[in-house]
Amino acid sequence: MTLRVTSCRTEYMHNPLGLDERKPRLFWKLASDERSAVQIAYQVLVARSEEQLNKDIGDAWDSGKVQSDQSTHIEYAGEPLETEGCYYWKVRVWGAADIASDWSDPALWTMGLLSRDEWKALWIGRKSESDLHMQPSPFFRKGFTVKVGVRRVTAYATALGVFELRVNGAPISAHFAPGWTDYDTRVQVTTFDLTEHIHPGDNAFGVILGDGWYAGTVGFLGNKVYGERPFFLMQVHIDYADGTRDSVLTDASWKTSRGPIVYSDMILGETYDARLEKEEWDSPYYDDADWESPDVRPGYNGLLVAAVEPPIRITETMRPLTVRQTAAGTYIYDMGQNMVGWTELRVKGERGKKVTVSHAEMLNPDGTMYLDNLRVAVQQENYILKGKDVEVYEPRFTFHGFRYVELIGYPGVPDLDSIVGKVVHSDTPVAGKLETSDERVNKLYANITWGQRGNFLSVPTDCPQRDERLGWTGDAQIFARTAAYNMDVSRFFSKFMWDMVDSQQPSGAFTDVAPDAGWIRHKMWNTRLNWFAPDNAGWGDAGVVIPWTLYLMYGDTRILATHYEAMVRWVHYLKANTTDLVRPNYANYGDWLSIEADTPNEVLATAYFAYSTKLLAQIAHVLGKSEDAAKYGSLFEDIALAFRKAFVNEDGRIHGGTQTVYVLALQFGLLTDTLRDQAVDHLVADIHQRGDRLSTGFLGVGYLLPALTEHGRLDVAYKLLTQEAFPSWMYSIKHGATTIWERWDGWTEEQGFQTPQMNSFNHYSLGSVGEWMFRYMAGIDTDMVEGGFRHSVIKPQPGGELTHVTASYESLYGTIAIAWQVSDSGQFHLKVSLPANTSATVYLPGDQCQMDGIPAAKQDGQKSYRIGSGEYEFQCAMPK
Ligand code: BGC
Repeated sequence: MTLRVTSCRTEYMHNPLGLDERKPRLFWKLASDERSAVQIAYQVLVARSEEQLNKDIGDAWDSGKVQSDQSTHIEYAGEPLETEGCYYWKVRVWGAADIASDWSDPALWTMGLLSRDEWKALWIGRKSESDLHMQPSPFFRKGFTVKVGVRRVTAYATALGVFELRVNGAPISAHFAPGWTDYDTRVQVTTFDLTEHIHPGDNAFGVILGDGWYAGTVGFLGNKVYGERPFFLMQVHIDYADGTRDSVLTDASWKTSRGPIVYSDMILGETYDARLEKEEWDSPYYDDADWESPDVRPGYNGLLVAAVEPPIRITETMRPLTVRQTAAGTYIYDMGQNMVGWTELRVKGERGKKVTVSHAEMLNPDGTMYLDNLRVAVQQENYILKGKDVEVYEPRFTFHGFRYVELIGYPGVPDLDSIVGKVVHSDTPVAGKLETSDERVNKLYANITWGQRGNFLSVPTDCPQRDERLGWTGDAQIFARTAAYNMDVSRFFSKFMWDMVDSQQPSGAFTDVAPDAGWIRHKMWNTRLNWFAPDNAGWGDAGVVIPWTLYLMYGDTRILATHYEAMVRWVHYLKANTTDLVRPNYANYGDWLSIEADTPNEVLATAYFAYSTKLLAQIAHVLGKSEDAAKYGSLFEDIALAFRKAFVNEDGRIHGGTQTVYVLALQFGLLTDTLRDQAVDHLVADIHQRGDRLSTGFLGVGYLLPALTEHGRLDVAYKLLTQEAFPSWMYSIKHGATTIWERWDGWTEEQGFQTPQMNSFNHYSLGSVGEWMFRYMAGIDTDMVEGGFRHSVIKPQPGGELTHVTASYESLYGTIAIAWQVSDSGQFHLKVSLPANTSATVYLPGDQCQMDGIPAAKQDGQKSYRIGSGEYEFQCAMPK
């Protein structure tokens, strides 16, 4: 059997630069033309140069032939990795007949600056011009000369604030680098390979700094949360073939000036005066004699860590569908999609003329822009023309959530080519695809992915439009599994775990938002918003749920080990704040934004306490900590018992009686067998009594369809999925939703818009039904024992009016794909495709099962098959 290595990745990335991980993990994907292809051994070579690697010499690490089927998370185990080292690697594998594959194509990674002592660059900024609330974004430049014979040019850059790096006039960095962290604790360093961007002779760096989260407005917490104004740090090493090195460091020798960006704030928009542009300011030949010296900051006490989060990029451009003139003489565009990012404007007009570009998610009944829900956010750019030909403009350090764009003061008549929408988010590669026979379900899935694209920007935010955009942990945990089916969020959530850990309280409490933005440290929650607490049930639990989710989706045990102590502290904190293992009723968001169903806080909080404890026991087990596993396992049993005593009647009724109390108790395993059956009946009765409608909020909604499906009521799950009456997912879709709304009643036929105080049309939490779509409707899941889809469980559950579903998930091993169909005659037909080096257990929903046309005679009565990689077809008769 011949295997091919098709892709090599390091720490989940293709050829990453500037790692600080001393034992990077290697991953490869395999392909084979034959079924049931498995790897039985591998050999990894890691070399200090390409030449060595080409000669099959692993002078940093030669693993030798290792008898192992592992093809993900292979820990580097060679020579100690050196600062700024460049490591080339390749792998070959052996298949079942012990036949070696070819070597893979070479891959590489580089290491960053591994010790603080190596940082010689200084932090540079620009003094404020006045005591104005918002300052111009400072520009910096530095000319430098490069000799001939360059081998490699590497830049290590970061900012307290956000930066754009340019080399000889060309933009190099992604957007909003280095992202949002708890800047008091750490900041991420991005590494750039500039070898292709510089040339012998004169070169220049140009840098623009934005306030970003560091000094600009953060949610509703005001501005200057971390610092007064932004600073930039960069160290560039120019290595020559002869072994010599030149460096360019940020220091007092750089030059700074204000530029055309009058201000640029995440939440408050941007004003850009094109008359102040300095032409070719970032070219080597620009005369910067009238620029000032920068202000050098004494230092920074936090950690400089290699960037963990994926870069933020423009991933798509959108053309508007329509434009119309308003009574006020402005122009309103419809982008056809509630999106996040900004607008590029094309305009020609008189010098000094101002055009305002305004953004809104919805229109008022009179056709004007619905801006009320933005609270204090200003989703506007003001562009002041320089008056030369056609001017093209897009903002730098702000972003908006919008479907509609209004041009105010546009000279002349704009058309559909006058604006372009730019979709901006953390660049997490697409992993999932899903399509069904029901257009409404397809639309729901599209809305879920748009919700994710709109809100995964450095951290998982709650919403992209109003003055909030915070890393709400409850939202993140309930959506994490859905998010991971949609996109590769391995590194995105690994980074968010650092945000959570950096914000964890000395008491062990995980916070409601992360980074906590000084909310708790500066006691903001005490004074300004005193009903927010650091440890809400279903929010703080994200500190355990998210690592567990990364384990399930990627088989990542390192994330579990790294944050194990933090998770233990959380569970101990919860336990210490109970009476007889029951959590108290205290300030709590409850099942946030449920609809006419108030779940008692103490029920919800005790259920989540049990859940975190249960996951901790499972995590301890995975990490081989058997004593802890037993200890937390029995603590979980005790909590479950306490839960039943305190809240569950003999007839299975649970205190509060909401759908959410039932689904939490069912999904967290808090009930006995008898109580479980009764609870399912009570749950279904509540749904029926509401006219087959749901009432769950952020927390309950994620478990609702899974609980029904796992407890024999798939029929009810499908009814809820396609219900069009209010409240339901389809209600919003019937009314034109292109994203998931924050609230079921964000807009209703009777009431129109909900209170503008809290009415986002782009909040992903209620979209956590995406997990059910993949795991149950399509039936693609991982075996829980190992995690990471090494062994999949393929168990499609057809129902409702659906006649077909096609879905795939790009796992670490490759694509897992299914397609099922139900014919008029009641035949269920399933195609499954599995990547090499994986296997699956396939469960069919009916009788008279066949695989590849062969009746399952020998498997009499058994509806499951174990398969290896490759493509398979199954058939069965749907049960009557
Ligand atoms: C946010 C939610 C968050 C909630 C908690 C809201 O303002 O938008 O996403 O989970 O507060 O109370």
